[in-house]
Amino acid sequence: KKCEKKRIRVYMDGCFDLMHYGHANALRQAKALGDELVVGVVSDEEIVANKGPPVLSMEERLALVSGLKWVDEVIANAPYAITEKFMNSLFNEHKIDYIIHGDDPCLLPDGTDAYALAKTAGRYKQIKRTEGVSSTDIVGRILSSLKDAEACENHDNTSSLPNDDHKESQSNSSHISQFLPTSRRIVQFSNGKGPGPNARVVYIDGAFDLFHAGHVEILRSARQLGDFLLVGIHTDQIVSEHRGKGHPIMHLHERSLSVLACSYVDEVIIGAPWEVTRDMVC
Ligand code: CTP
Repeated sequence: KKCEKKRIRVYMDGCFDLMHYGHANALRQAKALGDELVVGVVSDEEIVANKGPPVLSMEERLALVSGLKWVDEVIANAPYAITEKFMNSLFNEHKIDYIIHGDDPCLLPDGTDAYALAKTAGRYKQIKRTEGVSSTDIVGRILSSLKDAEACENHDNTSSLPNDDHKESQSNSSHISQFLPTSRRIVQFSNGKGPGPNARVVYIDGAFDLFHAGHVEILRSARQLGDFLLVGIHTDQIVSEHRGKGHPIMHLHERSLSVLACSYVDEVIIGAPWEVTRDMVC
């Protein structure tokens, strides 16, 4: 008699607004706590009621989460808090074993814990929140970059004042990323496999700044053209030269992790040149 081991199904929810590698890293850790990862994407209305309006719509957030390599299933329009009714539907209909969230406190507007019921039921597990990035921080960086561009324009249009340089460096420093790239994190995100002997390798390059639903779509289409998708991520300098001061918003290593987290991507070149060279294709 064949005795199959029960597959552990875990659930993680979130807003996943302006999806970043912190979200991807949370889902990677959640997946490692089970065999199948089901992700609940919180509805626009619930985000408005609990945190304020999201930048991305439900459709865009859903496309981003569905494109991640660790995600097996998604539940659209999930509630912000784990209510009794929703928890029962997770256990009975979706066959969930554990509910997972980052180790940061997740409080409702009334001060209570959004995961209290799951904790009492003994079905809650925690993962480590990734330092140095958040949706709020990214919005801050976008605003600082706009301010820099404006300051630059004013600087060009008016004669320079003695304090100008000082002001510029001040606004610049406000959106410096706190992210420290480690080889371990890159290994955790990569597939660790090269192309097979007869594989058709497809190459696509770009900035992939503020990874969005359009990127997921183009990477999906590119992957369909062959057997192995190699993505070249342009250096910060190249992106800045082509898009202007204040760009990119996310630096090279952050952009590389977001691309690596996408399920259609097999390998990335961290700091690809603008032009495709013979060395790269042979
Ligand atoms: N998360 C994480 N590391 C981050 C940001 C989020 O591990 N830097 C985790 C959260 O703990 C949560 C999941 O990702 O389990 C989804 O987070 P989300 O609901 O989108 O919102 P926040 O926790 O508020 O994160 P952010 O401010 O970046 O939107």
